[in-house]
Amino acid sequence: MATRHFLTLLDLSSDELRYLIQRAISIKNGLKTHGPTYTPFANRTLAMIFEKSSTRTRVSFETAMAQFGGHALFLSPRDTQLGRGEPIGDTARVLAEMVDAVMIRTFSHASLEEYAAASAVPVINALTDDYHPCQLLADVMTWTELRGSVKGRTAVWIGDGNNMCHSWINAARQFDFQLRICCPEGYEPRQDILAAAGDRVTLFRDPQQAVTDADLVTTDVWASMGQEEEQASREADFAGFQVSEAMLDRAKDDVLFLHCLPAHRGEEISTTLLDDPRAVVWQEAGNRLHAQKALIEFLLLGRVEG
Ligand code: CP
Ligand code: NVA
Repeated sequence: MATRHFLTLLDLSSDELRYLIQRAISIKNGLKTHGPTYTPFANRTLAMIFEKSSTRTRVSFETAMAQFGGHALFLSPRDTQLGRGEPIGDTARVLAEMVDAVMIRTFSHASLEEYAAASAVPVINALTDDYHPCQLLADVMTWTELRGSVKGRTAVWIGDGNNMCHSWINAARQFDFQLRICCPEGYEPRQDILAAAGDRVTLFRDPQQAVTDADLVTTDVWASMGQEEEQASREADFAGFQVSEAMLDRAKDDVLFLHCLPAHRGEEISTTLLDDPRAVVWQEAGNRLHAQKALIEFLLLGRVEG
């Protein structure tokens, strides 16, 4: 089988992505019923390169490999030769001699692509400045679990048009739902990514208008990792873009609220929003584990029935 990478949601077909969502739900149910008895990856290793902080991504990938009977290696540039200038391509060739798959969280998406081009084993994007496709697997899984097929439904993205927003745009393309993006001027998603989605994606400026009759509302921090020095200016620019319970009241009665987390209460969300029953962020975070299990299984073994 040719090596498959997962750098964006566009690396898999719509059909493969829909399979992954159903497979993730099935793996989750199996874990609940039988415990961690499904161990297809005994003695297999996932290398995890983290150039940015993480709680959910690290714990979910590491736990996925442990429950699958394998092992995950945490690699930080501080402690590896990557941090001392060993070329990305050399690192990719070396790791492929020893491990079965590699997961990378880094800044530049181009660096991730450079790594993948030199890697003979599957490479998974665990967040770059441009995309966060693993999060979208968990998000679409959560939406599907709670509301059935997402096709034709309406999601609303409120906030910065960067990595999470770009992956929501790709998800709208691949899962065929409508996406409204509401961001302040100057924080729009990349034009090429937006244009490729066609009329499935619409830009709004007024959050109150954007959320009206929506099926799902989601947001993210105003200053992402690497943008810490812009925190104050972004707080000013995003004033009026905080998602609150009152804002969700304008959406459909059964609206869901998602947030990839970590959240900044009192900034992009009201201080109490995560306590609202419409917010399903803990289930969403937990689904990182199941969705990524389905992804690793698919990249290494192909489709598995059951
Ligand atoms: N949502 C997410 O990727 O969380 P971490 O940064 O904690 O991994
Ligand atoms: N947009 C955020 C997502 C974190 C999971 C960041 O890049 O920091």
